[in-house]
Amino acid sequence: MAVESMILVRPEHLNHHGFLYGGKLLEWLDEHSYIGAMAHLKPEASLVTKGIDRVEFRHQVRDGSLLKVRAQLVHVGHTSLTTYTSFERTRDPVKIFRALVTFVSLDKQGQPTPIAPFLLRPFRPQSAEERRYWAEVEAARSRRSAAGKPEVKKKKKTTMKKDTP
Ligand SMILES: CC(C)(COP(=O)(O)OP(=O)(O)OC[C@H]1O[C@@H](n2cnc3c(N)ncnc32)[C@H](O)[C@@H]1OP(=O)(O)O)[C@@H](O)C(=O)NCCC(=O)NCCS
Repeated sequence: MAVESMILVRPEHLNHHGFLYGGKLLEWLDEHSYIGAMAHLKPEASLVTKGIDRVEFRHQVRDGSLLKVRAQLVHVGHTSLTTYTSFERTRDPVKIFRALVTFVSLDKQGQPTPIAPFLLRPFRPQSAEERRYWAEVEAARSRRSAAGKPEVKKKKKTTMKKDTP
């Protein structure tokens, strides 16, 4: 099940060039992906955005444009789930943006917790398209585990150089 909605681009959404401001599009991406993800979960689930696979603004979008947003669940992991979210300018029509957006399920202490107990029903990719996105997410997960978790760098202690007499 995908969640679809429409957005009207208004003057307050534009940048100084007169095109849709990218930050606004990212806000809509986060919000609509969250709605798409929550549509598959019990309301008590608590999600935070963990990652967006790619940010590429492909086309300019002008005032008055209508955008169709579609957020589709494509992957469920242990604590995470991912939507494929796309924005289409309806007039042409042309896809102006797409991303795989991953959310992590948190417990009351703000730590990752298994997503399975919150799912309304088990998720399995059905269509060829869903299987393709599932594979895309799995490939990204393999790349991350091969790279290892980034270490938090220890803050280098700076020492004042003593003046030599
Ligand atoms: C969410 C958070 C608690 C996760 O902590 P963490 O130590 O990175 O957790 P893990 O390494 O165990 O990863 C948790 C899940 O995220 C996935 N993940 C990790 N890095 C990822 C990335 N870059 N992109 C997509 N998924 C990612 C992991 O594969 C794992 O999924 P799985 O359990 O289904 O296998 C922590 O990163 C956090 O609090 N981030 C800030 C979230 C936030 O404030 N979001 C709003 C930003 S505006």
